[in-house]
Amino acid sequence: MKNKQFIEKLRLPIIQSPMFIVSNSRMVIASSRAGIVGSFPTANARTLEDLDQRFTEITSALGTGENAPPWAVNIIVSKMYARSNDDIELIVKYKPPIVITSLGNPEQVVEKVHSYGGLVFSDVINLYHSKKAIDAGVDGLILVCNGAGGHTGDLSVFAFVSEVKAIFDGIIVVGGSISTGESILAIQALGADLAYMGTRFIATEESDASDKYKDMVINSSASQIIKSNKITGINGNWLEQSLNEAGIATDQGNAKGVLGDLKRMAMPLIKKKLKVDFDISKVTAKRWRDIFSAGQGVGSISNVPSIEDLVLELEQQYKQAKNNIL
Ligand SMILES: Cc1cc2nc3c(=O)[nH]c(=O)nc-3n(C[C@H](O)[C@H](O)[C@H](O)COP(=O)(O)O)c2cc1C
Repeated sequence: MKNKQFIEKLRLPIIQSPMFIVSNSRMVIASSRAGIVGSFPTANARTLEDLDQRFTEITSALGTGENAPPWAVNIIVSKMYARSNDDIELIVKYKPPIVITSLGNPEQVVEKVHSYGGLVFSDVINLYHSKKAIDAGVDGLILVCNGAGGHTGDLSVFAFVSEVKAIFDGIIVVGGSISTGESILAIQALGADLAYMGTRFIATEESDASDKYKDMVINSSASQIIKSNKITGINGNWLEQSLNEAGIATDQGNAKGVLGDLKRMAMPLIKKKLKVDFDISKVTAKRWRDIFSAGQGVGSISNVPSIEDLVLELEQQYKQAKNNIL
């Protein structure tokens, strides 16, 4: 697959980003058939046999070779992830057109994926790691910015994209709170090539998220997303209601009546001081499965469509936004 050329053939410049527990082969197939790029993390397959099965499902449905629609797989390249080498062997066998690396240095993956003509994108949260990934020879950088679901970055999208553009002429993908067609157009205006969208796809028919999780995404707004490094050891964004239900106090959920209204109005100020402090070893709820992650883009999500319908909805918003500024 040639650099950048595949983007022009997409219906919308979107990667449905990989999500632990949530993404599955159905999402990849539905996304890629709808004209965007679907993806899933190899870690969602419990065993190598399961991963082999998922790759078989995807390649049988989407086909292989030059004319097949692009799709992606995400692999953790860190010693923390024991199955890394075995997963890479399966990647080389099934040749996903795009491989997304997270957490570690992508070096070991780049040569292998390039050998079969695939592209490597690396997700990064700062300029230091961007430079390391560029040195490793990646084709694309995924800038995970402030407000993203999962393990989030802290940088403003405006600041990060312009700094990276100054040192990198490969593919630039941007993630963090992108849930609408308007936001997709906005990141193109900044000079990015693709939008990296996770949270919006939690609330789709095909996703593996439970109904409770989907409901919470629909019913939450940006100020109910709590950033904490206490859940996994790395900064992540979590749905406040799921933290509260797991017995983790966030100090803002339970206020009622007039006092509650005042408190909510003052929330932006309170939030600056808000520190979610607890001992994770005393929490019995499982992170990701019971403590739900989502980004600040939850506020604009109000339905659970099929992926095909969602892409149509995003396309209409995108076109309207383009008309509005011309
Ligand atoms: C529930 C959830 C699980 C995630 N799991 C992964 C993962 O396994 N690997 C990964 O690289 N990123 C993971 N992410 C991050 C997303 O791929 C992406 O960076 C993020 O969703 C983009 O921001 P947005 O959610 O605001 O759209 C996850 C995000 C969420 C919401």
